[in-house]
Amino acid sequence: MSEPPTVPSPGVERPRRSVLYVPGSNTKALAKARTLPCDAVILDLEDSVAPEAKEPARRAVVEAVAAGGFAPRELLVRVNARGTPWHREDLAALARLPVDGIVLPKVETLEDVREAAGVLGASGATAAPALWLTIETPRGVLAADLLAGAHPSVAGLVAGTSDLTKELRARHVPGREPLLHALSAIVLAARAHSLAALDGVHLALEDEEGFATACRQGRDLGFDGKTLIHPRTIEAANRAFAPDPSEVEAARRLLAAWSAARAEGRGVFVHDGRLVEELHAREADRLVALAGAIASRTAGG
Ligand code: COA
Ligand code: MG
Repeated sequence: MSEPPTVPSPGVERPRRSVLYVPGSNTKALAKARTLPCDAVILDLEDSVAPEAKEPARRAVVEAVAAGGFAPRELLVRVNARGTPWHREDLAALARLPVDGIVLPKVETLEDVREAAGVLGASGATAAPALWLTIETPRGVLAADLLAGAHPSVAGLVAGTSDLTKELRARHVPGREPLLHALSAIVLAARAHSLAALDGVHLALEDEEGFATACRQGRDLGFDGKTLIHPRTIEAANRAFAPDPSEVEAARRLLAAWSAARAEGRGVFVHDGRLVEELHAREADRLVALAGAIASRTAGG
């Protein structure tokens, strides 16, 4: 008899379709974040917090994290960048709290990553929190591959498109052509190191159509989801970055056909007029797993 059909499972993907920045200085927003249908939140101590509000914001974020209530949303906190007066204290304050990850802004060098991991370790972090690296400067983009492999705690890359546009002296244009090289470099580096990849924010809050287009573009480039600045954009991001039902159905049919072909000892076959190889089965498996994770997220609230 032939071997039982197998599709190597890539592991269940955590949905990260919508990742909302929440200013750490805004207590109302911190409370509201626990009720919103986003997959993840980034409680922010960096650019959305004015210098004079940095310390109260840190205290408010520490309190909010300690109080909990964010699950099932993934809970990330963005600290101030290395070289600012707040960086080390932000990290130290978070080291022993139950966050899922720490977002480091303006990462450019291996030291930026390793020093942050070191400060967390020295501050008593028991399980090393995941590190998310924001790539938002020319040096960051050029070093993305190196940075993605800088430390075993690195879990994802975040495109910082507002800073990057400024640094490049580029312009915000609807198709984001000036950023395409950088966006692809970020996705390439993330995939090369099996990390998650999050697209940058869309600044025009009233521009629903432009937002939907940018989401589709980010999805087509390979991003797992989009970082957001306002709750009203969550649903559209959730829609854009979820596999649509017809894709999931096609993936299920492909997996069934793949299993049958494998049971007959075949490694390639034609399905719906297209050549199917193991790579297609793996991708179908990933889509079905992601759809399942999204369905249980929706059911679980
Ligand atoms: N996270 C959580 N809740 C948010 C939110 C956010 N990012 N943005 C707005 N809200 C809440 C508001 O508190 C308000 O809550 P309420 O219904 O309980 O009153 C509700 O959503 C509607 O907000 P709205 O009045 O439309 O917006 P606003 O004027 O309060 O805030 C911004 C607009 C842009 C200032 C705000 O969305 C914001 O600060 N976004 C994040 C910016 C950021 O983090 N930038 C750094 C990363 S690029
Ligand atoms: Mg930035």
